[in-house]
Amino acid sequence: MSYYVTTPIYYVNAAPHLGHAYTTIAADVIARHHRQRGEQVFFLTGTDEHGEPVADAAHALGIEPQELADRNSERFRALAPRIDATNDFFIRTTDPQHVARVQEVLSRVRENGYVHKGIYEGWYCPRCADFKAENEIDEGKLCPIHHIELTREQEENYFFALSAFQERLEELYAQREDFVAPLTRRNEALSFIRSGLRDVPLTRKRLSWGVPVPWDAEHVFYVWFDALLNYVSALSYARPGEDLTSRFWPADCHLIAKDILRFHAIYWPALLMAAEMELPKRLFVHGYLLMEGEKMSKSLGNVLDPFAVIDRFGSDALRFYLMRDVSFGQDGSVSTTAFEQRYESELANEYGNLASRVVAMVGRYRDGVVPRAQLDSELQAELNGMTDEVALLIDRVELTQALEAIWSRVRRLNRYVEERAPWQLAKQGADAELDAVLGSLVAGLFRVSVMLHAYLPSATGRLFTALGVSEVSIGAARGEVDLGGQRIAPLEPLFPKVQ
Ligand code: MSP
Repeated sequence: MSYYVTTPIYYVNAAPHLGHAYTTIAADVIARHHRQRGEQVFFLTGTDEHGEPVADAAHALGIEPQELADRNSERFRALAPRIDATNDFFIRTTDPQHVARVQEVLSRVRENGYVHKGIYEGWYCPRCADFKAENEIDEGKLCPIHHIELTREQEENYFFALSAFQERLEELYAQREDFVAPLTRRNEALSFIRSGLRDVPLTRKRLSWGVPVPWDAEHVFYVWFDALLNYVSALSYARPGEDLTSRFWPADCHLIAKDILRFHAIYWPALLMAAEMELPKRLFVHGYLLMEGEKMSKSLGNVLDPFAVIDRFGSDALRFYLMRDVSFGQDGSVSTTAFEQRYESELANEYGNLASRVVAMVGRYRDGVVPRAQLDSELQAELNGMTDEVALLIDRVELTQALEAIWSRVRRLNRYVEERAPWQLAKQGADAELDAVLGSLVAGLFRVSVMLHAYLPSATGRLFTALGVSEVSIGAARGEVDLGGQRIAPLEPLFPKVQ
């Protein structure tokens, strides 16, 4: 079994912010979970480096676009390990292998008869690098995303015959209900298709910062076609001397936010059809992280710096907060206050405390050796089903619900500690019962931690070290690993109090 998950490739006209970290973290949760299932996973992220916004930002700084791209691409590359993202490759659209592949695929699209010359005129936002349809322009001819004035542009370009795919796209949506999720986004894409597709510019004439069009030296490809192709081009050169395309294409899941829905839900499948390539299995569209009610974005200046948050609380805390507090698929507000509350009440007091107590009690009452015991039948009933439930939710990219399914078991284990009060059992000398309770707690803690591992890789990793286990595939969460007789090492608090 293989699984291929991608994030959008991020623009290098600005530095990474929490919104980018968000998608990359979500993709990483999915990638780690599938690895735990024993699947061969390929997780791709990277940077989108061509196009007008990058060229403009570079010129404003008085440097060459390549220099700006090098500088900022490095910051995105550095973000991944800071948030514990385990991407298998980091693509840059300025990689010569990517450039060659774009030229090859788009030439094929032309040979197949889907490219023609034409004049395009419309309202254009230089920050989006996109023309806007009349019905999406804000009053005063403003960009609905950037609130800046749109310019009227006219260009002679090569066009991609998007209109030729109207019917095939409608069929695609009819046949594959889950091609785009959640449903609201699918319906949004479908109604755009039904409203009638027009051909779209494939090249730009006035711009030089882009992939050169092989059949006309005066043009470069419009940045979106160049960018979308990253998802296939990366597979052909990520591993030197090896082409991973047949192993991983079509992608299992493209993760994006709703700002780039149309490109992924309409242009992308049409382009692949035109190139006679297989379509990805699904697109999952998450919502926006909002700050004070507006989309967090560099150009609006309302961003939380992920690096600062990680410095203070660690990357697990950030991963947890983003997957937990904002229901994945919907918009949600983020704030430092809510972050601190989740950290304190859930990570520190619920999970961290559970781990500390269980490890400490095994130390105190059993000299650090896990008693051999059957998992308590009540706990068994509550833990059974967790693995499949979580796997199913993650298959549907319902990352917040999956986390909740695990968390309800964390809470159950805390109640179990209170109900069974091991300290009382120790006082009463009820040895057999104490063995049963402590053994059950270690097993329960271990099982929930295996499922939490995709979300909290660092804290669960420290716990696994203390427990002396290295087997964390999802079978371990079904009880395939027996911890009885194991010696436990002391454990520092997983989520210490932060001032
Ligand atoms: N370069 C294009 C994507 C090309 S993909 C073939 C692009 N880049 S971007 O830098 O603007 O990144 C957009 C993506 O970043 C969103 O789709 C989303 O994944 C993530 N986010 C950026 N800001 C975000 C929020 N405020 N909230 C949620 N996600 C955010 O578009």
